[in-house]
Amino acid sequence: MKRALITGITGQDGSYLAEYLLSLGYEVHGVVRRVALEDPEQRLRRIVHLRDKIQLHPASLESYPSLFQIFSRYEFDECYHLAAQSFVAESFSDGFSTMAINVNGTHFLLEAIRNLRPSCKFYFAGSSEMFGKVAEVPQREITRFHPRSPYGISKVAGFFLAMNYREAYNMFCSSGILFNHESPRRGFEFVTRKISSGAARIRLGLQNKLSLGNLDARRDWGHAEEYVRAMHLMLQQPTPDDFVVATGETHSVREFCELAFSEVGLDYREHVEIDERLQRPAEVDLLIGDTTKAREVLKFTPARGFQDLVRDMVHSDLRLLENKVSTEQSTISA
Ligand code: GDD
Repeated sequence: MKRALITGITGQDGSYLAEYLLSLGYEVHGVVRRVALEDPEQRLRRIVHLRDKIQLHPASLESYPSLFQIFSRYEFDECYHLAAQSFVAESFSDGFSTMAINVNGTHFLLEAIRNLRPSCKFYFAGSSEMFGKVAEVPQREITRFHPRSPYGISKVAGFFLAMNYREAYNMFCSSGILFNHESPRRGFEFVTRKISSGAARIRLGLQNKLSLGNLDARRDWGHAEEYVRAMHLMLQQPTPDDFVVATGETHSVREFCELAFSEVGLDYREHVEIDERLQRPAEVDLLIGDTTKAREVLKFTPARGFQDLVRDMVHSDLRLLENKVSTEQSTISA
């Protein structure tokens, strides 16, 4: 039985990856913040159904000793480093803590592995945000990076840290350059979930307007549930390497709105209003990934397209809200 450690196990990707590794027969461990254990209903909500199948360890990405301790207690075969401050807009508000968590956290983990378990394979969650002001279209593994936010810069640093440990210490470190990937488990601060839950709330009469920023940004949006398979595949290769994971299609935020609102029988133009304060100081205008290497080497081709993703998110939010409303009504009438 293989033993894996996931940082960021309480997040969208971490929860799907934990499910996937369990289905493959792994022993799954996760790093969580101590506060998460104290507020399980909210902070562990995505993994509540896995709680008795996984082992959680309280630690902080800001503390080398706390990570060192976990590696001194267990011999892991694989480590998936997904934890990060991952909201780009927040990185403009507080670039310093984004840099500290994302860069040092990655460095601490790599160093703990080097010292205690150098044979443990390491997955680094890189990001298409590293391409930023894109040097070519579509973007591939060798496209020059030009990040446009402290978040993007922190991911470039993490990417090169992983590469450096690979080259300097011969460790098995691979980075996934994942393009945007979404699902019904996405956090509400990201634009797709903001739109899917907004459209569902407007449909149910719970609100009437939805404020958004730049509707013209284009993203290559895939489904997170299947992208975690690509992470696992990267660590099963004979040699470590870096891979773009994308659908190869691009759509604007406006198209996402159009489709999401039409799924619930509404016209987004009657409900979406632009709030200039939601514009970013520097924007990433266009992302679209070149899927060749992942297809040829990993044999990974995502099956779920844009329409399928938008539908899944909107209908899941509708169901969630309908259940909430009916529970509230039955509580009131009881
Ligand atoms: N969040 C948000 N909220 N974004 C908005 C809004 C809004 O109200 N209105 C327009 N947008 C635009 C943003 O300006 C951006 O161009 C686009 O919608 C997508 O924003 P996000 O959903 O916040 O994602 P992101 O592309 O910045 O970053 C995500 O994808 C990266 C991979 O490329 C995050 O998941 C990152 O962690 C990830 O690395």
